[in-house]
Amino acid sequence: MSTEEKNLKNRPEDDKLLLDHDFDGIRELNNPPPPWLMLIFYGTIIWSVFYVFHYHILGTGPSQDEEYAEAMKVADETAATQVADFDEANITLITDEALLAKGIEIYNAKACMACHGGAGEGNAIGPNLTDKYWLHGNKAEDIFKSIKYGFPEKGMTPYKDQMSNEDIQLLTSYIVAKLVGSNPANAKEPQGDLYE
Ligand code: HEC
Repeated sequence: MSTEEKNLKNRPEDDKLLLDHDFDGIRELNNPPPPWLMLIFYGTIIWSVFYVFHYHILGTGPSQDEEYAEAMKVADETAATQVADFDEANITLITDEALLAKGIEIYNAKACMACHGGAGEGNAIGPNLTDKYWLHGNKAEDIFKSIKYGFPEKGMTPYKDQMSNEDIQLLTSYIVAKLVGSNPANAKEPQGDLYE
């Protein structure tokens, strides 16, 4: 045995582990990975065969796209019930100024000003929304209902099919926070009952 070989076999167990393989005097010990690691390694290969068959070849498993679509469906259904849970029965007023600033946009976009004036002052068609006199009540839920169900026989269309409950809530909050008490010019005379 050469000195090189002796150096390699400096532990008794190395003797049987030294491989025959020799490259330019470089020898190699047989040092296999531990069995548990090999088990995982071969396990994943076997697993991948079933995986490829199940998902890609037979197409029996739901794809990521299908799982995503299913998750979105569940989320939509949950969201739908949440929106349905929210209406005139449990409306709360929004006080966030940034959101309220959007109220005027909806007010204009939905042409409320055509009948209630640009500042809610009222005109020949619709009543003043800025005074303390109300035909249909001044509570948040009253105003919410006025907008949602309208007064078709008096000329105000119901907005329930054109606006989400959230938008009606925002508009209601805008009227309460910004229009009521604003004393605009050319205000129409009071109509309805006084609500303090
Ligand atoms: C085509 C005209 C018209 C449009 C557009 C209109 N309204 Fe009206 N609105 C009326 C009329 C008319 C009444 C009064 C109904 C009555 O006499 O009972 C009314 C009543 C109301 C009331 C109840 C007022 C009270 O004194 O109780 C609110 C609140 C209201 N409108 C908000 C809105 C909002 C917000 C919009 C826009 C999304 C809007 N309206 C769009 C015509 C309109």
